[in-house]
Amino acid sequence: MQTQIMGVDIGGSGIKGAPVDLERGDLARERHKVLTPQPATPEGVAGCVAEVVRHFGWTGPVGVTFPGVVTHGVTRTAANVDPGWVGTDAAALLSRELDGSPVTVLNDADAAGIAEMTYGAGRGRGGTVILLTLGTGIGSALFTDGRLVSNSELGHLELKGHDAEKRASVKAKDDGDLSWERWARRLSRYLEHVEMLFSPDLFILGGGVSRRPEKFLPLIEGVRAEIVPAALQNNAGIVGAAMAAQAAQR
Ligand code: BGC
Repeated sequence: MQTQIMGVDIGGSGIKGAPVDLERGDLARERHKVLTPQPATPEGVAGCVAEVVRHFGWTGPVGVTFPGVVTHGVTRTAANVDPGWVGTDAAALLSRELDGSPVTVLNDADAAGIAEMTYGAGRGRGGTVILLTLGTGIGSALFTDGRLVSNSELGHLELKGHDAEKRASVKAKDDGDLSWERWARRLSRYLEHVEMLFSPDLFILGGGVSRRPEKFLPLIEGVRAEIVPAALQNNAGIVGAAMAAQAAQR
C-alpha cells in the first residue's frame, strides 16, 4: 500500500495541499497554498487544484475536500462557493484536469473528521462523536463507533429561525463583532440543539478557533457531552482527503 498520498483542501479563501504521510497522519512536505479564484467556479478551482498538485510533481491518486455535500464524486450544494458546483461531477472534472489521475472528492468536515478520529482528538473513541468545524460556515462529521455517516450538514440546522451557521460560525462572530461571551452563548445554544438530536458522547471543535480554546471552551454551558478542541487543526482536511483517496484504492 502507498504510504504517501496527495491531499488538497478547497476553502473559501485558499486551496492548500501536500503529500500526506499516512503512517504518521501528517504532511510529508510543507504545504502549498494558492488563493481561491473569485468567483470560485468549478473550472477556476480545478485549475488551482492542479496547480497545487503539480507544485509537488505529484502523479497518482489525489484526495480533495469540498465545502458542500458530495455524493459519489458529484458536488450537490454550494452554500459558500459558486452555485455552478451544484450537480458538477467534481471527481471527473478534477481527474481530467490532472491527466487522468484518480481523484476522490469528499466533504471538508467529513475529511477533517476522519483525520481526527484516526490521528487526533477522536482516536480510539467509540459511541457517537460529532466533529464541528467553526469557520465561514459550520461543517459537521458524525461518527457512530468510528464509522462516518457522511454529509450530515449540521451547520444548516435551524436556530432561532436562522440557518445555524449564520448565527454561530466564526464569520457570524466577526461580522457581528460579537464578544467571546456572546458568541459562546450562541454556540452553547447550537451545541444543546445538536445534543438534543444525537446525544453524542464527544464533540470535537475544529476550525481556526480551535487554536484558542481557552477563549471560549470555558464559557460553554448547558451541554452534557465532553467537548475538546481538534488536535490536527489546519491540516486535518488535507490529511483526511488523502485518507479517503487511499481508501478508494482498495
Ligand atoms: C457547508 C458544509 C461545509 C461547511 C464548512 C457549510 O456551509 O454546507 O458542507 O462542510 O460549510 O465548510
